[in-house]
Amino acid sequence: MKNFESSSLEAIAAALRHLDAGFSALPEFTASAPALDRIDSVLRETAERLRDNFPYFHPLYAGQMIKPPHPVARAAYALAMWINPNNHSLDGGRASSAMEKEAVAEIAGLFGWKEFLGHLTGGGTMANLEALWVAGQLKPGQTILASSAAHYTHARISGVLKLPFESIPRDDRGRLDCAALESRAARGDIGCVVATLGTTGTGAVDPLPEILRLRERFGFRVHADAAYGGYFTLAENLGPEARAAFDAAGEADSIVIDPHKHGLQPYGCGCVLFRDPVVGALYSHDSPYTYFSSDDLHLGEISVECSRAGASAVALWATQRLLPLNRGGEFAAGLTASRAAALDFAARLHEDPRWVLPFTPELDIVVWAPQAETAADASVLSRQIFERAAAENLHLALIDLPVSIFSSMTYKDNLKRVLCLRSVLMKPEHAAWIPEILNRLRGACV
Ligand SMILES: Cc1ncc(COP(=O)(O)O)c(C=O)c1O
Repeated sequence: MKNFESSSLEAIAAALRHLDAGFSALPEFTASAPALDRIDSVLRETAERLRDNFPYFHPLYAGQMIKPPHPVARAAYALAMWINPNNHSLDGGRASSAMEKEAVAEIAGLFGWKEFLGHLTGGGTMANLEALWVAGQLKPGQTILASSAAHYTHARISGVLKLPFESIPRDDRGRLDCAALESRAARGDIGCVVATLGTTGTGAVDPLPEILRLRERFGFRVHADAAYGGYFTLAENLGPEARAAFDAAGEADSIVIDPHKHGLQPYGCGCVLFRDPVVGALYSHDSPYTYFSSDDLHLGEISVECSRAGASAVALWATQRLLPLNRGGEFAAGLTASRAAALDFAARLHEDPRWVLPFTPELDIVVWAPQAETAADASVLSRQIFERAAAENLHLALIDLPVSIFSSMTYKDNLKRVLCLRSVLMKPEHAAWIPEILNRLRGACV
């Protein structure tokens, strides 16, 4: 195979034989499935359909926050499919529930938490929903605040939960503006402030230490949405402000971190953590169908979702066995490398008069715009370059940003927003591919 790793297929076959042997006490039986004899042709057709995709696995895909999982995660997930455990309850997924508890405890350890409440979720949205649902129960009817650069999910979730939501302006580096937060909080009635540790658009890290100081004065809850950025706490090359924010994350009331973003996992894997395990009481419910096989904690007892893929926990557990979440370890080196790639790419763009950059990347997202006299022209150019680059197999992303983010630019028109180019350099190979990425980007400019 030219592009895809395939040695893990052998490893899956060997592990499957081992798994099978674990059930040898049962009378022999081979599972039958209808139409199994036609699987080859359908799978070929499936592969044909899947060819219609951007090449997320390739370093020339430097667009959205997407890459395939680590081979061990893919293999462990596939292996678990021969069982298909359901982590709702120990009745549905005994081993995978235990693996989830262990893997989640390791993630909580990233923030210094030993006593906590936490579990995996279907993704970042579900994880944030639980955090805001808990905030809403503890501070009923009070307002949720997040910066205008926070993920749109917070406004939407607040709507679902029927909690009032307000947006706080961002500063010129895309971070929550604490002066604006302070004056809003002084008016009272704030239940929870969402601090984003790594905004989806630009990778900005909100000033969590200052937000926590304001919590002392105003008594709101602080929820850290580190869905994208959370694992960067392991990076060794963060700027001082981002470092301070990640170091303070353990003081937040709740944290969301997505293994399916920077944790090398397949989609369907978010994680929510609460500093105070007592909030578990808010989830209290009866399930007349499950929770019978053990008196130990069933994960459904502390999560809003009912059925959940036990395979997600299996994949995460296996990945953390191979690549523990240690400072200075191999997994941490990947985060450091991504930020280094972003810094290098940004520095090279900065040297080229064709581009303007709003700020130095805080994590591994780079945002830049073509030099132009008006925001309208810059926007047209961004789209043209995005399309031309894609035609040359360089896949970037676009982002619509307020012009105020470019403090060094005075556009001659009065437009408030400008379309920019955006790149997430989240693959280990990106650092080595930056010259080629720049080459193709230059080619897309002519
Ligand atoms: C900061 C942040 N929060 C929440 C989300 C939503 O997560 P999901 O897409 O996993 O539902 C994202 C997704 O990119 C994100 O970056």
